Amino acid sequence: MKKNEGVFITFEGIDGSGKSTQTRLLAEHLMDIGHDVVLTREPGGSKGAEEIRALVLEGDPDRWSAETELLLFTAARRDHLERTIEPALANGQIVICDRFADSTRMYQGLSRGNLRNKVDQLHALMIGKEPDLTILVDMDPALGLARAKGRQTKEERFEDFGLELQNKMRQGFLDLARQYDQRFRLVDGNRAVDEVAKDISKVVSDFLT
Ligand code: ADP
Ligand code: TYD
Repeated sequence: MKKNEGVFITFEGIDGSGKSTQTRLLAEHLMDIGHDVVLTREPGGSKGAEEIRALVLEGDPDRWSAETELLLFTAARRDHLERTIEPALANGQIVICDRFADSTRMYQGLSRGNLRNKVDQLHALMIGKEPDLTILVDMDPALGLARAKGRQTKEERFEDFGLELQNKMRQGFLDLARQYDQRFRLVDGNRAVDEVAKDISKVVSDFLT
């Protein structure tokens, strides 16, 4: 890592695994101990990318083909990277991001046929950035889906794909964590919020020191 370059931490896992809750708690904890933190999310995290977010997360599950979806998520990520992530890292900040390219590897790469090759090619061409550290919040798929459904939002396109998709995504994330074992750390999300948060703080402080 270059001197004065920030640290890029991502959170991954199935819907309802507690990523939004845990990214917020980690950001608060790191700020409390004096770090300069940017908390962000995907899809979204910049003005243009938040506009694309509504296009991909609302409406019928079959609104887009997997290929079109891949292009939309990648367009959103490129804007987010240019306008939020890269400037913060150049400024020496810790960027905590709720989902990033691993979600595309899973959801667009695996969910409807095998598009992983196209996902990887587009990533190399247009993004080319990997996190320094990725926390995988592992979680029972049925519990995750029940939690996600309990939230009652309009952003249910992916949740409407149901338990079968959640199962496939969970296994896919575990496989991905093995593939990129240098940057992935696994945390058990099937526990109380503060227990999960304690584990994550430890993982991150070990990484930062
Ligand atoms: P994600 O961002 O991974 O979809 P959220 O953080 O939004 O997950 O959590 C989904 C729902 O479950 C929210 O209503 C949240 O308050 C709740 N929740 C999060 N973590 C836990 C936990 N450890 N135990 C019980 N409920 C949780
Ligand atoms: P998110 O808001 O993180 O949902 P949740 O809080 O329920 O986990 O993400 C919304 C959905 O977008 C989620 O179902 C996964 C999907 N997604 C993709 O399909 N591809 C991607 O590249 C990203 C970032 C998210």
